Amino acid sequence: MSVRKITEYPEEVLGQVGKPVENFDDGLAELCADMLDTMYDAEGVGLAAPQIGLNLRLFVMDCDGIKLIAANPEIVYTEGEQSGQEGCLSVGKVPAVVVRPMKARLKAQDLKGEWFEHEAEGYAARCFLHETDHCDGKLFIDHLPKLRRDMVLKRFRKEKNWK
Ligand code: NI
Repeated sequence: MSVRKITEYPEEVLGQVGKPVENFDDGLAELCADMLDTMYDAEGVGLAAPQIGLNLRLFVMDCDGIKLIAANPEIVYTEGEQSGQEGCLSVGKVPAVVVRPMKARLKAQDLKGEWFEHEAEGYAARCFLHETDHCDGKLFIDHLPKLRRDMVLKRFRKEKNWK
């Protein structure tokens, strides 16, 4: 297990639609272990494969009591609306308020390739949506009005320059 380097905006892979996971083997299990290590090391609650430079439909999360690995994730149902702070390890965790559905039902495959569904509410639902977006080449800032998106990116660039 090891901590991988996190890719940051505007790296190209973050904007690409991920390729399906096809091999449910030891390599996938090792990759997911690395992704969890990388996520915990960065103190994140979710991490998708494009965030370590891989163009794959895969994410890991440990958020609000829900810990799971999701290969080939899809959001099959949403309900309601919530407005809350969101950030991303690939955008320096600069927070912004994003409107999302309150509930979301995730359909995905586990490490053995078995399909499962999991429904969540609130923060965990937000995480399902945020991470599934990553697999579609979409970042949380893509949900923001242009002015607020520009503000997040400006702050991100500034903080990067300080490091
Ligand atoms: Ni993210």
